[in-house]
Parts: sequence; structure tokens; C-alpha cells
Amino acid sequence: MTSPQTFRVKSFGCQMNVYDGERMAELLGAQGMRAAGDGEDADLVVLNTCHIREKAAEKAYSDVGRLAREDGSKPLIALAGCVAQAEGEEARTRSKMIDMVVGPQAYHRLPQMVADAAAGRASVDTDMPAISKFDALPARRRSGPSAFLSVQEGCDKFCTYCVVPYTRGAEISRPFADIVREAEQLAAGGAREITLLGQNVNAWESDGRDLAGLIRHLASFAELERIRYTTSHPVNMGEGLIAAHAEVPKLMPYLHLPVQSGSDPVLRAMNRSHTVASYLRTIAQVRAARPDIAISGDFIVGFPGETDAEFERTLDIVDAVRYAAAFSFKYSPRPGTPAATMEDQVPQAVMDQRLARLQARLAEHSTAFNRATVGRTTRILLDRRGRKPGQMIGKSPWLQSVVVETAAPVGSMLDVTITGAGPNSLFGARLPEVRAA
Ligand code: 5AD
Ligand code: SF4
Repeated sequence: MTSPQTFRVKSFGCQMNVYDGERMAELLGAQGMRAAGDGEDADLVVLNTCHIREKAAEKAYSDVGRLAREDGSKPLIALAGCVAQAEGEEARTRSKMIDMVVGPQAYHRLPQMVADAAAGRASVDTDMPAISKFDALPARRRSGPSAFLSVQEGCDKFCTYCVVPYTRGAEISRPFADIVREAEQLAAGGAREITLLGQNVNAWESDGRDLAGLIRHLASFAELERIRYTTSHPVNMGEGLIAAHAEVPKLMPYLHLPVQSGSDPVLRAMNRSHTVASYLRTIAQVRAARPDIAISGDFIVGFPGETDAEFERTLDIVDAVRYAAAFSFKYSPRPGTPAATMEDQVPQAVMDQRLARLQARLAEHSTAFNRATVGRTTRILLDRRGRKPGQMIGKSPWLQSVVVETAAPVGSMLDVTITGAGPNSLFGARLPEVRAA
């Protein structure tokens, strides 16, 4: 096969994968390849996969299968991300169509792997090298108004249901100076908002600085209007970070703080290292610092051994916190994790019922949160076009999508009054129009 001219990177799962996908695309672009357009066959396809829930591997293999073309040919295929890390050599045994298997800590080596694959040599690289892949990636150039910046990877928490400590490795923090350099590049390239990413982003530390220190430093950049961070772990929610929510205006009033369950025995079995009371205390401190903060969470229903009464406690914590947004999942046994072999696995039908009840309750709170913003005047960052001509969509400080009629381009900050709330988005009107009415 000749060297590929065009590529497509498809990312699944979390924001870290979105970030890694962007960096892989930039890396391939720096090799002289070009991103394939919509509907165009790419010479190289990178499937940047997610392994967090069941059937992830099966889904990845069926996605690979669908890349076969009608004429019997196929693109060069790289399996990347967490399924690649977990499957390793096995991936090439299960699908002969895969030319490269590259883990999340090894994708800086993609150019060499692609050259080898074009010459007919398949390769597997799931090393977790000590030297940072980031040093081997090209500088950031152009950026949309809202950029992701990975500052921390991996997890040492070992929640008993979770594969992340195995697929992403131990917690590591990128050095302060490297992050600052990348933030400068993103800001110069057009970013107005930066979201700092990490599996345990609030465990980040470098050169005696913690995440609050990093946020305060980035807030001094004139071009940057907004700073966000995700995902945080309750035990790393330190006083300094909470104080930053009170003191740094550019730090947006939004906190994603997964709780998983509202029952202490379940939290203990999950090895979550926080209790219901300690979690609620943290939420109270955060709200004291920033009363309007939007709290979002992750939940798992049907963890092995979870009783009806324990599940009810999860509904209680939902009512206590009044989440503005949430992700909720049925427990999914992951091979190799301690929970997968625990007794009392909960039947699917019970999990289905619990999930439906939980999601209905979460929807009540998110709807109430959105309705409460109607009538407020706030600033939005336009990040894309709306469905109808003349419409744009922007993000509120609380991460809500706001639809507004305006000729202002993507990247503008607009002051709007929220005029209505739908199930998935809000409607806003530009301030001058509101004043004129
Ligand atoms: N089953 C169900 N949900 C899971 N999560 C992580 N592992 C599992 C699993 N085995 C959820 C958690 C986590 C989110 C990213 O995915 O809620 O916070
Ligand atoms: Fe997984 Fe728990 Fe680590 Fe989050 S904190 S990545 S849920 S092990």
C-alpha cells in the first residue's frame, strides 16, 4: 500500500479521548496528511475507543468491520484509545483488518507506525513510557473558542468497578511549564475558554502548585475569558480549589463531582474513599464559596449487592444536591476489576427499573435548574451555528446551551437575557433587543 494521503480520527467516550483525538489529527497533519472531508473515503482511519462500559471491545471490532469497502479494499486502520490498551496483541488476532494497535500513552509514535503499516508491517504499541508523549507532539496552532487541555492522566483510586487505573495507568501530572506553554498556544490560536482535563484533574500537582494555583495563573492570560476543569474526585476537592471558585471570576461556576451512589455501604464496596456525609459537606463548602454553582454528577445503579433500600439513598442524595446535570449508568462488569467477581450481581430488569427512576428524578432537578435561569441576564460564548438560519448556540457559565438569533460569529461573547427553557437548551435574546422592547 502507498503512504496514506488522507485520514479520519473517530473518537468515542470521554473528553480526554476528544483531546487525544485532536492531538492525533494534528500529529498526522504535521506529517503532510490531510483530514478527509465528509463522505470522503480516508486512506487511514484511527478509531479512538472507550472501554468504560460493557461491549466496548465488541463495538470497536464491529466498527472496524464496517470500514471494509464495497470493492473489497480497506483503509489502513489504527485501533487507538482504551480498548487498544486493554486488548493489545489480542486485537490483531481478533480482527485481521487492524494494522496498528496504539494505546493512549503511545500515540506520539503513530507516524512511524503508519509508515510501517503502509509498508505492510503491522505494529502494536501499548507501552506506558516514562517520557511524556506530549514532548513528541507538534505545538498547538489553531483552536476553536473552547479548547480542551489535558493536564493529568491516569488514576490511583481503584474504584472496584472501574477499568481506568488499568487502561490509563497511574496518576501523572503534566509539568506546570508545559501546560502553560500549551495554554499560550491555544490562546494565541483563538481559544477563549480552556477546560483542563484529567481523570482526577483536581489531584494535579507540579512544582509545589496545585490545580487552584494553575487556574489562578491561567486566569492572568488576557485572551482567556473562561476556565473550567473536569473530572474531579471528591477526596481531592481541597480548600484552595474551593476558594478559587469564590475568588477567580474567570473560573466558571460549574463542578462535575461524581458521587456514584448515595449509600455508604455501597460507596465502601466501590472503594470510593468518601462517604455521603463527606461528599455533602464538600458540596456545602463549594456552594458557600459560589452560591450559583451548577453541580453535576455521575451515578451507577445496580452495583453488586445494591439493595432496594440502598438505591433509595441514591435518590435521596439527588434531592439533597439538586444536580444541574448528570450522567447515570447501569453497573457493567469489567473483566479484571474486583467488582466483576463480586457476589449478588443485580439482575438487568432491576437495574433497568432503578435507572429509569433515577433518570426521571435527575431530569426533574435539571429542568428546575434550567427554568430558574429564565429571566437572568448572562454572558454566553458562541461555539457553533444553530439549526435555523441566523441562529447561533453559545454556552452559559453553567454550561447550558443557549440558542440566540445573532449575526455575531463563533467565538464571540454575548450578553443575553434567558427567555425560555426547553428540555435540552435555553433560548436567549440579545440585550439591546430586550432593552428596546
Ligand atoms: N459500570 C458502569 N458505569 C461505570 N463508570 C465507570 N465504570 C463503570 C462501570 N463498570 C461510570 C462512572 C464514572 C463514569 C465515567 O463512568 O459513573 O464516573
Ligand atoms: Fe475510575 Fe474511580 Fe479512578 Fe474515577 S476515581 S477513574 S471511577 S477508579
